[in-house]
This record gives sequence, C-alpha cells and structure tokens, in this order.
Amino acid sequence: MKEYVLVGSGGRGYWMYASAIAERYNDVAHLAGIMDVNRKRAEYVESLIPYEVPVYTDFDKMMEEVRPDCAIVTTVDRFHSQYVVKALDLGVDVICEKPMTMDADSCNAILDAEERNGRRITVTFNCRYMPLFTRMKELLAQGVVGEVLNVHFEWMLDTVHGADYFRRWHRKLENCGGLLVHKSTHHFDIVNWLIGQEPAEVFANGALRFYGAAGEKRSERCCTCPHAGECEYVYQDSQVPWVKAMYYDCESEDGYYRDRCVFAEEIDIYDTMSLAVKYRQGALMSYSLVAHAPYEGWKISISGTKGRMEACEFDTGTQACDDCFHIKLFDRKGGTMTYDLKKETGSHGGGDERLLRMLFRGDLADPLGQFAGSKDGSMSILIGIAANKSIREHRPVTIEELVSFDRWKERKEAWE
Ligand SMILES: NC(=O)c1ccc[n+]([C@@H]2O[C@H](COP(=O)([O-])OP(=O)(O)OC[C@H]3O[C@@H](n4cnc5c(N)ncnc54)[C@H](O)[C@@H]3O)[C@@H](O)[C@H]2O)c1
Repeated sequence: MKEYVLVGSGGRGYWMYASAIAERYNDVAHLAGIMDVNRKRAEYVESLIPYEVPVYTDFDKMMEEVRPDCAIVTTVDRFHSQYVVKALDLGVDVICEKPMTMDADSCNAILDAEERNGRRITVTFNCRYMPLFTRMKELLAQGVVGEVLNVHFEWMLDTVHGADYFRRWHRKLENCGGLLVHKSTHHFDIVNWLIGQEPAEVFANGALRFYGAAGEKRSERCCTCPHAGECEYVYQDSQVPWVKAMYYDCESEDGYYRDRCVFAEEIDIYDTMSLAVKYRQGALMSYSLVAHAPYEGWKISISGTKGRMEACEFDTGTQACDDCFHIKLFDRKGGTMTYDLKKETGSHGGGDERLLRMLFRGDLADPLGQFAGSKDGSMSILIGIAANKSIREHRPVTIEELVSFDRWKERKEAWE
C-alpha cells in the first residue's frame, strides 16, 4: 500500500485525486495527510473521505509526521514549485498537476532538485489520455503524415468555461502565468508529444479586450453585485452544495472568493492570444487561444512530408449530435481517409480515469509514452513562459534563454 499526501485540497485535489484514492484505488493507495493553507477547506475534504486523515496547514510538519511515499501537488500554480522541491529534497516522489510551475527560475529549481535527489516527478497531462489525441498519436507514430513540418492549432474557451479563469486566482499573471501557461500547457504538451519535437523559439501577441477593464459594469463579486440580474457572466454554481461547502463556507479563512467579478480592473491576464512557435527539429506551429468564444472546442491540422491530418472537437452544431469524432487524413495523391472514433463519457473523454490507473495501479502498458515527467512538464510551460516574455519584450524568445537544453543532454537517462 502506497502512502500519499495531498497538498492543496481544492476542486482538483478532491475530485481527481482524494476521491479516487479513497473510493476506487483504496486497495493500492492510502491518503495519509491533507495540507492546505485554508484549514476549513482541508477539513471539508477530509470529511468526504471514508476514513480519518490528519489535516495540516504546515507542509513541513505533515511531511515530518506522515513520511509519505508520494506527495500530490494540487495547489495554486505559483506554489507548486516550493512543495515539489521540498518533497524531492526529502526523497519523496511527486505527482504534480499541470502546469508543473509558472516561470523559468522555478522550472530550473525543480529540475535541479530532481537531478540532485534522483526522485521522480510525474506531471499529470490528462489530455494525452483523451481517446482522440491517443488515436492521433498512434497514427502519427505510424508515419501517416511523414515528417511533421507544420501544425496549426486553435483552442476556444466559451464564456462559461473561459470566464471562470477571470473570477479566481487565475486572473493574475503572478499566480499562474496567465492562460498561456496555466491553460495552454495542456495544448503545448499535446503538440510536443504528438509530433515528438522540442520547442526552440516563440513569438507571441496577447491582449485583454473582453474581460477585465473592458467591461462596462463591475462589482466585487457576483453574490453581492447590483448588476447580477442582468449580467451574462454571473457565476451560476454558488448554490451547488459542494461548491458552497468548499469555497463559500471557507471564505473566513483566507478571503478566497469563488465568484469575483470578471470585469475587475485588477485582472492582468490575456483573453486573446496568438503564437508562432519554431521547433528544434524544424516544425513550425501557429497557435491561438481565445477565452470568450461562443462555443468550446479545438481544431488542429498537422502537415508533413507525406500528407496532412485534421481533427477537431466542438460542443456545438452537428458535431455535438455526432456520436463519433473523425480524424481526416489527406495524402499527396488526392486520397483521403477518415477514422471514426466513438465518443467516450467521463472526465476528459475518460482520460482522467486512464491516467489515475497509470498513477495508482501502474498496470497499463505505455507504448505511446503517455506518462509524462519533468521534461514534458518543462517543455510545455516553457512555450507559455517564452510567449509571456515575448509579449512583454516584443521580440522572439528562445527556450534556451530560459532553460538550457544541455541539462537533458547530460542527464538524458533521468528523463527518459
Ligand atoms: N489537469 C486538469 O485538467 C486540471 C483541472 C483543474 C485544475 N487543475 C490544476 O489543479 C490545481 C488546483 O486547481 P483547482 O481548480 O483545484 O483550484 P482551487 O482554487 O479549487 O484549489 C487550490 C487550493 O490550493 C490552496 N492553496 C492556496 N495557496 C496555497 C499554499 N500556499 N499552500 C497550500 N495550498 C494552497 C487553496 O486554499 C485551495 O484549496 C491547479 O494547479 C490547476 O492548474 C488541473
């Protein structure tokens, strides 16, 4: 039985990890400690676990008393690195939520700690386990498009999902590196993994023109807002019992409001982003992310020496009624082929559960290299970190400026 501690007992910590350990993996995993700076929230999560779990607000005390095999880090992004480094230095393996961290210094600090201690950090890129991306990876690995030359990837967040990032801690660059790090780490990881190449240089533009100061009316938070009745963006879930218990009932501890106004003037992350990325092995990628689209979805095309692959996922129109996804292949002789893939239920198309099984049971083969470590965690955030720097400094930024590729050349085996 492996002993785990949870660091950060918010939505992801409970719904993805603590509940899974307690309910579906309790024959192989035991939750031995819960730590959060908000004691009430940690106690609420503890009350949902069917056995007693010690609750802490002090990480060092928890690690000293519990001595776990593995720490699961699901705090606010800006605090990931401090817990990851401390855990590794204590000789404890780490499962870290995405993004691994949010700036170059802390990325280097994590890589140093891993190297120093020979411990393992797993970064939980659940999107790799989504059936559609898994099938695309299988096809690309078979060489259906040949050598990849170009990727065009656009991601749309609608005004329910997208707006949510402007209500909470994600709204400040200092907490998560903005959506280019916090959210796009998923997307950059998918591309890096699909095409098997490493990013080299990024040029980016970013704007905040929909949320934040762009709004006409604002208040501190939805539940006391005089405009709530007429606002399209009012937070809808305040009365959902677990949301109330996890956030509203715990406000007295730290003033964390779940429903802050999406038009607050303090918001400094971008809602509209556009990137040009050059890969070390030669591919070029154009990428865009908007957080105010009329519908959720993404569209990708991957062009190579032998042909082109196209795929997309939308929650609107004909695709929403279709029970299959379709991957289209175009060859150089005018031939096309479509692969139909049945849509699966479950969080991220069942991807979260497959990842959990890999994490806790470890009984699935990994022929596609879906299990991600610190190199994958780094490469995906570094595109976003470089993009933020590019936007600030109005110039192309190389990944090498942020983290030296030599560290992977020298200690290759540690990250394989
Ligand atoms: N892979 C995915 O699909 C996915 C989905 C959601 C969230 N996440 C990740 O999970 C993490 C948590 O997100 P969430 O939605 O649960 O947020 P949340 O706000 O619900 O939870 C964050 C928790 O961290 C706690 N916290 C804040 N500062 C802390 C500190 N210094 N030390 C310890 N705890 C601290 C907060 O009190 C809160 O309980 C984020 O890194 C996010 O990127 C990943």
